[in-house]
Amino acid sequence: MLDCMDDLRKISDLRLPPNWYPDARAIQRKIIFHAGPTNSGKTYHAIQRFLSAKSGIYCGPLKLLAHEIFQKSNDANVPCDLVTGEERVFANEDSRQAPHVACTIEMCSTNTPYEVAVIDEIQMIRDPARGWAWTRALLGLCAEEIHVCGEPAAIDLVTELMYTTGEEVEVRNYERLTPLTVLDYALESLDNLRPGDCIVCFSKNDIYSISRQIEARGLECAVIYGSLPPGTKLEQAKKFNDPDDPCKILVATDAIGMGLNLCIRRIIFNSIVKPTVNEKGEKEIDSITTSQALQIAGRAGRFGSSFKQGEVTTMHRDDLARLKEILSEPVPPVQAAGLHPTPEQIEMFAYHLPDATLSNLIDIFVSLSQVDGMYFVCNIDDFKFLADMIQHIPLNLRSRYVFCTAPLNRKEPFVCTTLLKFARQFSRNEPLTFDWLCRHTKWPLAAPKNIKELVHLEAVHDVFDLYLWLSYRFMDMFPDAVLVRDIQKKLDDIIQIGVCNITKLIRASQSVAAPGTAEVVSEDFPLSRTQRDARVVSDRHAAAPTEALSIAVEAAGLRRAKNLRSPQLSGRQEDMKSYGRGSLANRLLREGLLTQEMLRQLESEWQDQHRNGRYGFGSKRDDQHSSKATGKKRK
Ligand SMILES: Nc1ncnc2c1ncn2[C@@H]1O[C@H](COP(=O)(O)OP(=O)(O)OP(=O)(O)O)[C@@H](O)[C@H]1O
Ligand SMILES: [Mg+2]
Repeated sequence: MLDCMDDLRKISDLRLPPNWYPDARAIQRKIIFHAGPTNSGKTYHAIQRFLSAKSGIYCGPLKLLAHEIFQKSNDANVPCDLVTGEERVFANEDSRQAPHVACTIEMCSTNTPYEVAVIDEIQMIRDPARGWAWTRALLGLCAEEIHVCGEPAAIDLVTELMYTTGEEVEVRNYERLTPLTVLDYALESLDNLRPGDCIVCFSKNDIYSISRQIEARGLECAVIYGSLPPGTKLEQAKKFNDPDDPCKILVATDAIGMGLNLCIRRIIFNSIVKPTVNEKGEKEIDSITTSQALQIAGRAGRFGSSFKQGEVTTMHRDDLARLKEILSEPVPPVQAAGLHPTPEQIEMFAYHLPDATLSNLIDIFVSLSQVDGMYFVCNIDDFKFLADMIQHIPLNLRSRYVFCTAPLNRKEPFVCTTLLKFARQFSRNEPLTFDWLCRHTKWPLAAPKNIKELVHLEAVHDVFDLYLWLSYRFMDMFPDAVLVRDIQKKLDDIIQIGVCNITKLIRASQSVAAPGTAEVVSEDFPLSRTQRDARVVSDRHAAAPTEALSIAVEAAGLRRAKNLRSPQLSGRQEDMKSYGRGSLANRLLREGLLTQEMLRQLESEWQDQHRNGRYGFGSKRDDQHSSKATGKKRK
């Protein structure tokens, strides 16, 4: 081990990332940074240039955004392909590549030359899990002009990075196209809802609870949350945007923060804290950041929508002052760009350490790696989780890597066990057929009757995604992509029916749940789909297993980067600490077992009972508990 230590150190030296992209270094690129607040036309102007170029690539953070540009480009008679983790759509019928492509950022090619490249939402370069993909695009895209769009907070870092490559950066600043006002009053009651309102929640259970209360008032609402399939999200958005549809209220998680074009007049933050998962994979509660709040608030009064100005407020009066504070704080500058090791580096590690498990290899790599202050190593826990899960299955290193980079949410047991079964059958060299998949998922499936069934259907949708993703990497072993895509579309329709009837499903779920049980399904974090999308697209060249090695590492671990974290992250940790200390309620909130909405409901029920002299359980012991609690509260 000691003999090869020097070699390992050399291999894991990540201090000169610009040198990883010789093709880009061989040309002189010009960087144009479109900077401004949300809804200021940054992407619009970059796309105008993309459309006028002979060839171009658009790199976006989400599948929905890539779809939007793909659509826009083809509508403007500029043939454009679409490339995401599970999908390739060619503009030309004979499957010849078009000169333009819209892709999710992890999929962009750093070998193909383009006249213009667009990198959207550049501030994501600081993202603990996905930042590497923006760094790779920025340093590695082979285009004469690179149009970068995003928050002004990223200007300095991009300029600094480009200083190391010797490339010029031109900054174009934009102003918001429509006014956005923070209201002086909170919504306080759902009775005050108006058409064009969007309530933003940070947990699925709050979504369920609020949509049910809205329906009880005789109003229809559309629902959008992270783990819904893209087709369902689009349908719900369409319904809400349609001026002739009676559905004029939207209940959504921050999944709407990037991507969808919605006709929202007013954003109402149901809460200003949100569950997150920390570096150890533990659930925590965290105040939303200024950047997140601005992104979400920026959905109101979108230019070109039916609302000429946007409004933003909170549901609860107590939160309004804090929201105003958050919105008025400056966004801290982006300080470091994410990185991941290259596939070759990990392969060389494996050569020197043939007996190490993949998970150990990654750990050793990350702990030995050296990075420059402008960079940090991204979080790689998802990869390690999968590596451990399939460790006992005999696979060669490259295939193992590909499996470990599969886009799945580790909180979905059905999807995880499916991956395990895929890997096992793959190791026996038995192709995964359509029939096998239908048997495994019990397809065909019926419309959901309650929330649990809806959640299961969402997981089956993810299993189909997983199959499609693998089919691009191991075509022979996953041969039935066409058929699977077909049933996935059908499943999307079934899920849509479920979501349209969501309040019925909630009622059905609650009638079978124990009396007083507020939770209808286990808590799911709103960003799970977004994070998964990150992994979904954490690949780039479908049929190139070596590339997949990088993907493995691309999800990335912050352990090394602890000291390089942005002030924003450290600030959030401080918030977490202060929030997390103390009472049982705070602990339950922190662990994600209780949502803000439930807590408020409990508080108000408890106060009502207290006021009326009813203590629910009636025993002396409980009375004592209650008075104790009161005493504590007063103190
Ligand atoms: N000059 C323009 N002419 C017509 N439409 C425009 C113009 N500028 C922007 N728009 C439209 O306004 C909307 C917002 O613009 P855009 O998406 O470019 O904003 P953005 O600054 O990228 O916002 P975000 O930060 O939320 O991504 C889009 O629907 C876009 O098509
Ligand atoms: Mg934009």
